[in-house]
Amino acid sequence: METTLLILKPDAVQRGLMGRIITRFEEKGLQIVGAKLAMISPETAATHYKDHQGKGFYAGLVGFMTSAPVLILAVRGLGAITICRNLMGATFGSKAAAGTIRGDFGVSNSFNLIHGSDSPEAATRERGIFFGPGEVLDYSRAGDRWVYDSSSGKPE
Ligand code: RTP
Ligand code: MG
Repeated sequence: METTLLILKPDAVQRGLMGRIITRFEEKGLQIVGAKLAMISPETAATHYKDHQGKGFYAGLVGFMTSAPVLILAVRGLGAITICRNLMGATFGSKAAAGTIRGDFGVSNSFNLIHGSDSPEAATRERGIFFGPGEVLDYSRAGDRWVYDSSSGKPE
């Protein structure tokens, strides 16, 4: 199982799209194992987006991410990192495919609604930035036996 880190960005919160975006992940079968509504500090945004420091869009990105509350989620499932990135769609709303979150809900290239970890290493690092000990939960859902085929002994 992978646990990825998603951030519903300020535009998603302000536009009232949190519920519809979370529904996409729940409908897919993924499990919400952590959730936190928060203002991100400039220091935390800089840590989170450290790989983009020095790029032309960096200052605008940090300004945007710290401009209003965001919803931070930890989302778990087999292959959750890639599945979430696929559900999110390409980075720019103007280019993201229809059927994806960015493709369906936005047209802007910078106000692109959602962040998702892009590798297992990034997921571990980013979860550590936003969630403290005990804030990402382990629990089972009654419907999980119908989400994964566990007849072989491990979920598939
Ligand atoms: P994210 O990190 O937010 O999940 O987005 P991503 O992987 O799809 O894209 P990434 O390359 O990591 O870029 C991070 C965020 O920076 C903004 N951006 N603007 N104007 C530009 O050329 C540009 N490129 C990136 C976007 O908000 C993007 O989500
Ligand atoms: Mg990225």
